[in-house]
Amino acid sequence: MQALEQKILNEGIVLSDHVLKVDSFLNHQIDPVLMQQIGQEFAQRFKDCGITKIITIEASGIAPAVMAGLILGVPVIFARKNTSLTLKNDLYQAKVYSFTKQIESTITISNKYLKENDKVLVIDDFLANGQAALGLANLVGQANAEVVGIGIVIEKSFQTGRQLLLDQGYRVESLARLESLNDGKVTFVAAE
Ligand code: G4P
Repeated sequence: MQALEQKILNEGIVLSDHVLKVDSFLNHQIDPVLMQQIGQEFAQRFKDCGITKIITIEASGIAPAVMAGLILGVPVIFARKNTSLTLKNDLYQAKVYSFTKQIESTITISNKYLKENDKVLVIDDFLANGQAALGLANLVGQANAEVVGIGIVIEKSFQTGRQLLLDQGYRVESLARLESLNDGKVTFVAAE
């Protein structure tokens, strides 16, 4: 997605060979116009899949997921990473290990919002090692619902997540695919 790649080139800060900071439009401050375009792009790519729900994870997955949900006309569920005062019973939960942060968290949703016949689109801001997406897919599986695809805003293609998800049979659509962050420079995977 051209506008996203240009934004990454203009505003992304390469912190190391494996971490890109995009606080100015995705992870802290949010660019609503770009986010709307991102929602449109996800909606376009998944428009024929009969999606009934979108699931994401707090915090940075929420903005792109809501924009996609608005355009597809479906509700958006965000999994919580911390315990909530109001989310106590009848839960689906999965453990997610972050290799980047070296911490394990438990993600939670209420079983009220996912049903057996739901066709679910998983959306997240970054794909690194794929553990968050797998955790979300696990929650969908607990509801006996179907994951119809995984939509990612920025994929770090030099890490293992994409292949892991493809190996498990998931369709993965990433709007920007980073080939490398080596030497302080962003390069993208060439479009197919
Ligand atoms: P994985 O789910 O693909 O295995 O990713 P991983 O555990 O490695 O990533 C953990 C967190 O770090 C996630 O955010 C993810 O979005 C973020 N992350 C991973 N690589 C990068 C990167 O290169 N740049 C940025 N900006 N973020 C990265 P999180 O902790 O859930 O944060 P948030 O959603 O609350 O913002």
